[in-house]
Amino acid sequence: MPYNIAIDGPAGAGKSTMAKRIAAELGLVYLDTGAMYRGIAYYVVKRGVSPEDREGVLPMLDGISMDIAYDDGMQKVLINGEDVTPYIREHTISMAASTVSKIPEVRIKLVELQRDIASRTDCVLDGRDIGSYVLPHADVKIYLDARPEVRAVRRLDELKAKGTAGNMTYEDILADIVARDYQDTHRDFAPLKVAEGAIVIDTSDMSVDEVAKAVAALCTR
Ligand code: DC
Repeated sequence: MPYNIAIDGPAGAGKSTMAKRIAAELGLVYLDTGAMYRGIAYYVVKRGVSPEDREGVLPMLDGISMDIAYDDGMQKVLINGEDVTPYIREHTISMAASTVSKIPEVRIKLVELQRDIASRTDCVLDGRDIGSYVLPHADVKIYLDARPEVRAVRRLDELKAKGTAGNMTYEDILADIVARDYQDTHRDFAPLKVAEGAIVIDTSDMSVDEVAKAVAALCTR
């Protein structure tokens, strides 16, 4: 049986940082499931369809074939063979991904792919519903959390480091985080929540190394 670690939590709690670290330490594949929702969001928005418009999105789903590939350890999202990875980190795609992810048929399509990968690969997956819905029997379930204000500072620092903060202020980012938290925790189908049996780590007042140590202590094979 493959070894699966589920890391869930809201945006900016440190999921991807921790998932990458533990994947490297234990020699596991890292599957960023948010990137998959971002891929769908990018695809529909680019074709002029609102991610809110279920009737517009549904007919497009059958025409979307998604593949996950790795290039030098970096995950790539391919849609119908096109690498959409360079476009999915745009700020506007974050909220579009949260919105399109409310559509159950979108989730079912991506969950199928996530379960397929997890069933044949030792991997760490990060997302919103991994421990609660995608892999309720994962070997380890972790829920990373942090105060919204802390997460907004982290996001802004990240964007500044990448040189992509533009005119965005701390207040803009905090408002986005709060709106996305609300949408991700209030959707009907597989909302963000602490999974049964998950260990909650509030990273607000912890350093990256402290969190990494706590996560590593839970991931013993
Ligand atoms: O982790 P992220 O910020 O890249 O995720 C973008 C959005 O995708 C997030 O706001 C909600 C959605 N998502 C989801 O619904 N379920 C997941 N497992 C991962 C992401």
